[in-house]
Amino acid sequence: MCGIVGYIGHREAYPILIKGLHRLEYRGYDSAGCALLGKELTIYKAKGKVSDLEAVYEKSPQPAGEEPTVGIAHTRWATHGAPSERNAHPHLSESGSLTLVHNGIIENYASLREQLQKRGFTFKSDTDTEVLVQLIEYQKQLHQSDLAEAVRSALKLAIGAYAIAVIDKSEPEKLVCARKSSPLAIGIGEDDSEFFIASDASPIAEYTKKIVYLNDEEVAVVVRGKELYVTNLMGDETEADVKEVNVDLSMLDHDGYPHFMLKEIFDQPNVLKDCMRGRIVGDDHNLKVVLSAVTQNRRQLLRARRIVIVSCGTSWHAGLIGKQLIEHFCRIPVEVAYASEFRYSDPVIEPDDVVIAISQSGETADTLAAIQQAKQQGALIYGIVNGVGSSIARESHAGTYIHVGPEIGVASTKAFTGQVVVLTMLSLALGMAKGTVEQEEYEETIKELLLIPEKIEEVLKQNDKIERLSKQFTYARNFLYLGRGYNYPVALEGALKLKEISYIHAEGYPAAEMKHGPIALIDNEMPVVFLTNHHRRYQKVISNLQEVISRHGNILAIINKGDEQVKKMVDSYIEVPETLSCLTPLISVIPLQLLSYHIAVSRGLNVDQPRNLAKSVTVE
Ligand code: M6R
Repeated sequence: MCGIVGYIGHREAYPILIKGLHRLEYRGYDSAGCALLGKELTIYKAKGKVSDLEAVYEKSPQPAGEEPTVGIAHTRWATHGAPSERNAHPHLSESGSLTLVHNGIIENYASLREQLQKRGFTFKSDTDTEVLVQLIEYQKQLHQSDLAEAVRSALKLAIGAYAIAVIDKSEPEKLVCARKSSPLAIGIGEDDSEFFIASDASPIAEYTKKIVYLNDEEVAVVVRGKELYVTNLMGDETEADVKEVNVDLSMLDHDGYPHFMLKEIFDQPNVLKDCMRGRIVGDDHNLKVVLSAVTQNRRQLLRARRIVIVSCGTSWHAGLIGKQLIEHFCRIPVEVAYASEFRYSDPVIEPDDVVIAISQSGETADTLAAIQQAKQQGALIYGIVNGVGSSIARESHAGTYIHVGPEIGVASTKAFTGQVVVLTMLSLALGMAKGTVEQEEYEETIKELLLIPEKIEEVLKQNDKIERLSKQFTYARNFLYLGRGYNYPVALEGALKLKEISYIHAEGYPAAEMKHGPIALIDNEMPVVFLTNHHRRYQKVISNLQEVISRHGNILAIINKGDEQVKKMVDSYIEVPETLSCLTPLISVIPLQLLSYHIAVSRGLNVDQPRNLAKSVTVE
């Protein structure tokens, strides 16, 4: 789950590579490096962030007037080998002629390394990647072949996942790249004379809209000023599928906010409107949800006797909400599985099952593997994805993009609400097609869904208050989040947000389950975030609240606006506008996102790039 960038053309490569790395830094920031091929091949590396790499470059920049126009670069999330300069990419081949960047994992690296060592190759890093560049060089020598052929031969021997870019001093007009199970996009410059390589479209979008997403086991050769040539590993030419990709570049900048996470929290009202646009149609008296994927796959969806949702992390929490929505509106039993568990659990999948994959990036390795397996077993795969053209989107038979724009902050915020909105629309559309939802409830839910963006705006107006409240928690060591029904997955999500960016241990629990164990943790030092804004189970939640009050827990309650009863009972509260039970997650998650953000900021932490994490988990 690293980020790779490459450029070959007529412009100076370094600034393009660095800008690209900044855009991909969400994928990992343990080390960064770049290789520039001019008269010489020069490699710069730094432990840490892309800014550290820039500092290294500034100390010995390329001579003015001789700036190379070919290069590759990398930002790393460490898997094999600790974060360090020596393990930073690009890695060099034995002769020093070839250099390579890689995103993925070479599973058989140990045996390949041993074989290469026997043939005199020496290794300077602890990475699995170095094996690839040495193997390519070995294949090149062995078969007296060119770089592209050597890459193909080497990749036939490699087991695992890769997106790579390689350059070779002896073939300076070429850049070769390839992928399997890790994403890789190639941008074709406007005059077809320059090419941009990247792990996603964000580093490419400002130069060109023409993008080719390589398929698994494809190798692309780009020749400066000439051509893009794609083959499979056997060397047979395959057709490059050139897509027109539009990325809203304003979404890739902070836009005046101190962090991407805060910007993305504040983006929610607008992007959720984008998510619903064209999908909720009609006027006030005749509103309906139209999802083309549901229309096109109506027969198969109606036949489903069971739905399995596979996802990870925040997307899994959205899946738990999706289960409640689908079971309520469509009366179809739903199971929600962690993709990483599902894939190795020998799952029972019947041809009439529908498997829904939820993923922001569309590149999560476990989710991708889970749907590949379910597909083989005959299920219809429905993707709910943000990354347009991503691997999961392409692997799905049908799907609905959440269309919330690029999410850069590692902590997922707007993708979560986008996923819940799509799951709501899907449940309504399917429920209507099945006849399991009453017209009145259908219309009421759609109308209320359309009001969600402005209700979120209302919550966002309390940002200053939430920031003030957060100060008392700067030094908290533990947190408990409690909610019931639709708010239980929100409790899990609130706890995850806090954990990942502020490093405070937090647990989410169903409020009523607390008395079966976690209640023992409660004392006056335990902050408890209580989600009471759920009117269907309100009285039950109040009883659970009493249980915590009796044990002197420090309660911060999320309450429906004007709930005087709870206001009097708790230490602090945040008021949110009322909505339908099934839509409460879309409202109650907002103060939790802001709370974790402000706690992390007050602890002086890097909110957008929390330690040990990366945005897109493309390794298992
Ligand atoms: O891209 P995906 O939605 O498939 O990613 C799944 C998880 O890795 C992701 O939601 C992760 O838990 C987030 N960092 C949470 O904020």
